[in-house]
This record gives sequence, structure tokens and C-alpha cells, in this order.
Amino acid sequence: MIPGARLIILGRQGAGKGTQCVRLSRHFVVPHISTGDMLRSAVREGTPLGKMAKAVMDAGGLVGDDIMVGIVEERLNRDDARTRGYILDGFPRTVGQAHELDRITAGRPIDVVLDLDVPRELVLERISSRRVCRDCGTNYVASGAERTPWICEVCGGDVMQRDDDTPDAINRRLDLYEEQTSPLIEYYGSAGRLVVVDGVGTPDRVFALLTAAVDAARRS
Ligand code: AP5
Ligand code: MG
Repeated sequence: MIPGARLIILGRQGAGKGTQCVRLSRHFVVPHISTGDMLRSAVREGTPLGKMAKAVMDAGGLVGDDIMVGIVEERLNRDDARTRGYILDGFPRTVGQAHELDRITAGRPIDVVLDLDVPRELVLERISSRRVCRDCGTNYVASGAERTPWICEVCGGDVMQRDDDTPDAINRRLDLYEEQTSPLIEYYGSAGRLVVVDGVGTPDRVFALLTAAVDAARRS
């Protein structure tokens, strides 16, 4: 495996992007840049960005393109991302963001765009049982038999349901995915930059498919 990669991961809410990015980031030795995690951290810290984003996120809406592009541009210009690369999770989410990303990455283009394909019925099941550490973001699956308070095995933080994992917000997010984000499949597909990967199966199997797709794209 050659360390370093410039990757984008697309996929419906609950497809497993965050889950797989933790592994891909270790495997390719690149930072996992999740715009959702960056916004949640701003909400926790109570910054002006966090205060503005919270209401939008809780309602399942999208934060404005200008704000998101500014955040991502600043992050991609840091040394680690410039030298080793990155895996982008949750960005771009609109065609406008994709155009801006092409501008930001001109001269150091992405290796491949991965589309983690999981049907809507299955992501709804996954999201409803998802629990997340409020501090480090580690994902868990609730079985109903957990003790409360539920403490994170990784950092000792509180494991809770995400504020935007309510039925209304989930449906709004999934509808917005079809409207605003799925056009990116055509955008990157027509440019020959997209690989669709089956996201149904165990996390180990999905990870093997993703790394094989990246390796094949980098060889071609
Ligand atoms: P974001 O944090 O990106 O959330 P999202 O798009 O809703 O995606 P999720 O995090 O819900 O899904 P995931 O694919 O990461 O799934 P996960 O790995 O957790 O964004 C949040 C909000 O921020 C947005 O709604 C928006 O408001 C705002 N925002 C962010 N970026 C923005 C942008 N660019 N522009 C505008 N606004 C932006 O997996 C889900 C569950 O399934 C977990 O419980 C997991 O354990 C389980 N699981 C994972 N893989 C498997 C498997 N193979 N088998 C069984 N279970 C699995
Ligand atoms: Mg996620």
C-alpha cells in the first residue's frame, strides 16, 4: 500500500461513510475530514458557526455553500492535507460545492470518488439504532440492552443519539440527499472519476471493497 491519497466518499446518510473513513484514514495515513464532525464540534464549543449551524442541522437542512467551502478550503490548505492528502466525508454535498472543490484542488486533483451504495430502507434502520460518542464521535449500534449512562470505550465520553437522528430530520436529510447530492454521481461519473461500491455487508467486507477500488483507481 502506498501511503497518502486524495479521496472523496459519497453515500446516503447512514451508509457508513464515517465508519469506513476511520479505517480508510488509518490505512492510507491521511486525515479524515468530516464536515459533519467539524460542525458538531463547533456546536459543542458554542462558536458563532456552531450557534448558526445547530438549528439547520437539527432540522436536517444544509448549511450554506459559502460557509462550507470556506471551512473546507482552510482545512485542505493545512500541511497534513497538502502533503499526504485526505479523505473527505460529507463534502461536497451540492454541485456548487463540487465546482468549488475542483477550484481548490486544481493542481492536486482527487484520486477517486467513492460512492457507498446502500438502499434507503437499510440506512433508515442503521440510523435509528446509531449511537455516537459526544466527545470523540465513535459510532455504536444500540441493541436496547445497554446500561445508562452509556460510556464510550475509546474516550470515556457520553454515548448518545445524535440530535439530528429524529424521524423528521432523517427523512428531510434523505430527501435533500436525493435532490442536492445525488446529482454528484452524474457529475463525477461523467468525468470518469467515480467508483460505486456496495455498502451492504459487514464493515470488514465493505472496507475490503473500498481499498480495492482505491488501489485499482490509482493503478489506472
Ligand atoms: P454528517 O455528519 O455528514 O451526516 P450525514 O450526511 O447525515 O451522514 P451520517 O453521518 O448520518 O452517515 P454516515 O454515512 O457517516 O454513517 P455512519 O458511518 O455513522 O452531516 C450532518 C449535518 O451537517 C448535515 O445534515 C448538514 O446539516 C451539515 N453538513 C455537513 N456537511 C455539510 C455540507 N458539505 N454542506 C452543507 N451542510 C453540511 O453509519 C451509520 C450507522 O450504521 C452507525 O450506527 C454504524 O455503526 C452503522 N454501520 C456502518 N456500517 C455498517 C455496516 N456495514 N453494516 C451494518 N451497520 C453499519
Ligand atoms: Mg457520518
